[in-house]
Amino acid sequence: MIELKDITYKNDGKIILDKITFSVKENEKIVLLGINGVGKSTLLKIVNGLIFPSDGRYYYEGQEITEKKLKDKVFNKFFRKNVAMLFQNPDIMIFNPTVYDEIAFGLKQFDFDKIDERVNYWADIFGISKYLNKSPFDLSGGEKQKVCLASILAIEPKVLLLDEPTSNLDPKTTGWLIDFLNELSITMIITTHNLSMAGELADRTVVLGENHRVLYDGKVEDFLKDKDLLIKANLVHIHKHRHNGIHHVHYHVHDWD
Ligand SMILES: Nc1ncnc2c1ncn2[C@@H]1O[C@H](COP(=O)(O)OP(=O)(O)O)[C@@H](O)[C@H]1O
Ligand SMILES: [Mg+2]
Repeated sequence: MIELKDITYKNDGKIILDKITFSVKENEKIVLLGINGVGKSTLLKIVNGLIFPSDGRYYYEGQEITEKKLKDKVFNKFFRKNVAMLFQNPDIMIFNPTVYDEIAFGLKQFDFDKIDERVNYWADIFGISKYLNKSPFDLSGGEKQKVCLASILAIEPKVLLLDEPTSNLDPKTTGWLIDFLNELSITMIITTHNLSMAGELADRTVVLGENHRVLYDGKVEDFLKDKDLLIKANLVHIHKHRHNGIHHVHYHVHDWD
């Protein structure tokens, strides 16, 4: 469904992504893992057709996604309807006066019928029905995130791109979101810099290293067992200290935000 071939992205001559190659099958879920600055958000924006690689190719359902291709109105609508992204910061997605309008917006844009019914259905799923007539700007970070996700899922995309979706959420909402995403059977790429979160989100991970290349592509559980790779990804560090005069070495997971 998604095929990335030697994707390189440069900004002012600086390499932000270096020859990234991997594919995602229909209904497959992957976690894009790596520490801050490795290029996760940049890669999601490429997959979302918001920016374009300096080099390499991106295919969605066998069709190469280029700036020129997305200028075609019919193709653009097809692509935008099918590939949707939840940004890390919900504030940049929200722009409608009410939560109702926020969810209805995409539905109208993509010519859905029964808009009222659909808005109510998604608001109910996300537990935000009581906010439908309120301004989304007055909601908490977690509630805004839910409004954004409801608006996106309402248009029934085939691919969902989520950029650090749990980073603004409290533990309870994080747990709810993880369960919710696990039940959804659509193609997903979820980014995180949180090692403990990776295994909760998917079985497969693509790990980007500090050299902006793919460091690992495979099962999350195998990656978590590979101390050398974890250190290479800078996701853990070796911590040496003394317990009762005895030197002790262990690994610290870099999970603090
Ligand atoms: N618009 C931009 N202009 C200049 N540099 C950018 C821009 N966006 C991202 N970068 C740089 O690209 C690198 C990767 O960023 P990003 O994709 O946000 O990484 P991640 O999401 O993994 O933290 C970082 O070094 C960041 O400073
Ligand atoms: Mg990011």
